[in-house]
Order: sequence, then structure tokens, then C-alpha cells
Amino acid sequence: MFEIYGKVALVTGGAGGIGLAIAKELLKNGLKGVAIVDTNQLRGNAALHDIRQEFGEGKAIFLHHDVSVRSQFEDAFKAVIEAFQNLDIVVNNAGIYNEKDWERTIAVNLMGTVNGTMLALENYLPQNKKGEEAVILNVSSIAAFLFCPAAPSYTASKCGILALTSCMGQHAHYQRKKVRVMAICPSTTATELYTERKSTAINEEYVKLLEDFMEGGGMTYELQWPEDVARGAVQIIKEANNGSIWMAEDKKPPYEVDFVAMNQVKR
Ligand SMILES: NC(=O)c1ccc[n+]([C@@H]2O[C@H](COP(=O)([O-])OP(=O)(O)OC[C@H]3O[C@@H](n4cnc5c(N)ncnc54)[C@H](O)[C@@H]3O)[C@@H](O)[C@H]2O)c1
Repeated sequence: MFEIYGKVALVTGGAGGIGLAIAKELLKNGLKGVAIVDTNQLRGNAALHDIRQEFGEGKAIFLHHDVSVRSQFEDAFKAVIEAFQNLDIVVNNAGIYNEKDWERTIAVNLMGTVNGTMLALENYLPQNKKGEEAVILNVSSIAAFLFCPAAPSYTASKCGILALTSCMGQHAHYQRKKVRVMAICPSTTATELYTERKSTAINEEYVKLLEDFMEGGGMTYELQWPEDVARGAVQIIKEANNGSIWMAEDKKPPYEVDFVAMNQVKR
């Protein structure tokens, strides 16, 4: 089992919601330090205060960087290693739900996760991990499996994260780099992203499409808390097989799912 005690994590979008809950759950498990990479300075300041209150001084830094910009992400890697010396866990969690601004949705959710995965696996984790192996956890969504007609860009970005994880979670990469790469797919979780989803619909017709989808049984999940997802995320970081994809729904422990490959699509 992967030991979290004494390790260092970088969590994107960690200033609130699911990301902050994962940062705190890792700290509860003995993490040495966490770098929160987020574009929301105010939320970041509050998160640092929160972590200081609960875990004491010197456990977290806030890095005001945009994950969709490769050079900024690279600066974040350098800063966390300078602050804590090692780096062992990367959680690519930053995400937005904005169907109106589909360029930004793809840029943050998919490009941000590609930046975080490729930079971490090729450079920063193998060279700076403390133990035998390092871990990347990518935050996708149950949306990747629901095909909601109101959420094409968000769905595309989250399916892309699963494809990325399936490629980089291959044994050939593990052999080279000793980094496990997994993905978690939360169902509806009580965060800002969830509560504000209607305000970023493409237009009123898309609001109706979303409502119809939800009322028509497209999404019958119990609203869970970020802490429910965080417990599952840490379990995956500790125990999951390289390349595996996990559903985290209804406040329950995560379970592994298939992301269909060629040998499964032939009819
Ligand atoms: N809430 C849900 O129902 C739900 C369900 C499935 C998956 N998710 C995924 O969980 C992840 C976390 O979302 P959340 O629900 O906690 O939402 P949230 O809005 O509470 O948190 C997202 C964080 O990402 C940050 N962020 C946005 N753009 C960024 C960028 N370019 N660079 C760095 N940080 C950036 C935001 O400032 C925010 O702090 C997202 O990837 C989201 O798609 C959420």
C-alpha cells in the first residue's frame, strides 16, 4: 500500500470544494505538506487559514496559477518542490462547468489535466518522489458516462480525462517512471460548481434540457459532500491499480468501472 505519511501533494483547484476536502483528507493521513494551485486568490487565502487552524503551521502553500497555461503549471511544480523538497502526489482536480464558454471548459478541465499529468509523469514526480512510487489522481466525473444533452463540452472534457488516464496508466509508463495514474468520477457533490450549473447553460433551451434530463431520471444520485469524495480519493491514492477508473457516488466508497477499449466495443 502507498504510504501517505511524510509525502507531499499538489492539488489543483484545491482552494475549495472537492479539492480542499482531498487536501485535508491527505493531511489527516500524515501528509507532510500540500500545495494548493488555484486561480481564486480569496478562496486560496481562506483555505490556507482553514488548514492552519486544523493542522498547524507550515503544512500548506497557495500558488496562484492557472492550470490551463503550461508555463504557469510548470512554475507551480518548481514552487512546491522548493517549498517542501519532495513531491509524491498530484491531484488534477481543477475544473469548471461552463457550457457557454466551451473553449474555457476544455482548456481548464482537459488541457489543465493534460498539463498536470504530462509534466508530473515525465519530469517532476519521478525526480522528486520520496518513496518507491508516486501517484497521479485525475478528477473526471460521472458526467463522462451520462451523456447529458445539456453538457456537451463538460462531458467531452471529462471523457478526455478518462482517455488520458487510460493511456498514461499503462504498465509501459509505470515501468519507465514508477508513477500510478488513476481517475475518480464523482456524482453530484455539494460545491459551487454544482450549485451554479444553470447560470452557465448555453441558453434557456439548454436550461430546459438540463432540467428535463435531471427530472427524467438522468441523474438520480443523492447529493454527496466533498468529504465523501475525498475519503474515496485517498483510498484510491493508497490502493488502486495503475490505470484504474473509479466511480464515487451516493456518499458510498468508490467502486471500479470499465472505460471501454477496442476489445469491448466489437459487436
Ligand atoms: N461538484 C460536482 O457535482 C462534481 C461532480 C463530478 C466532478 N466534479 C469535478 O470535481 C472537480 C472539483 O470541482 P468542485 O465541484 O469542487 O468545484 P469548485 O468550483 O468548488 O472548485 C473548483 C476549483 O477549481 C478552481 N479553478 C478553476 N479554474 C482553474 C484554473 N484554470 N486553474 C486552477 N484552478 C482553477 C476554482 O477556482 C475552484 O477553487 C472539478 O474537476 C469538477 O469537474 C464535480
